[in-house]
Amino acid sequence: MKNILYNNDSKYLELIDQSIKAKKFSYSPYSKFSVGVALLSSKNNIYTGTNVENASYSLSICAERVAFTKAVSEGETKFIAIAISSSKDLYVYPCGACRQFMNEFGDGLDVIIVRSKKDFIIKKLFELFPCAFDNKYNNERESSDTNI
Ligand code: THU
Repeated sequence: MKNILYNNDSKYLELIDQSIKAKKFSYSPYSKFSVGVALLSSKNNIYTGTNVENASYSLSICAERVAFTKAVSEGETKFIAIAISSSKDLYVYPCGACRQFMNEFGDGLDVIIVRSKKDFIIKKLFELFPCAFDNKYNNERESSDTNI
């Protein structure tokens, strides 16, 4: 579904705009692929993020996890939407690790995949990441598994 905004249209447009602007701080000398995100919390705050790469390659971190760790470390745990944009003329969907990471904070998140200001797709996180392993398993384990 393209260009369909649900609630809060102007806030989502601002989020899209901020994700595009956030790309300028991407540290991506190895891939040369800049990713910018903007994350909207339930307290109506916006946290931006970019990918931060490393000479070791494997220690590189995606823009989505940067934005989430910024927000959570400032006391936010409930989120409404995240806009994701990149330096390529493509829809960039979050990687599997980021889907798992974001799922920790709720699968109702609106994920806005931004190709340009006027060309984007909105999906719920549960559509992108169905049947997730989440904290219900940890809780069950604590109460029922006596063989730990
Ligand atoms: N990357 C992100 O930051 N987010 C995504 O959703 C996909 C991939 C980054 C990781 C790496 O720095 C670069 O894009 C190339 O994979």
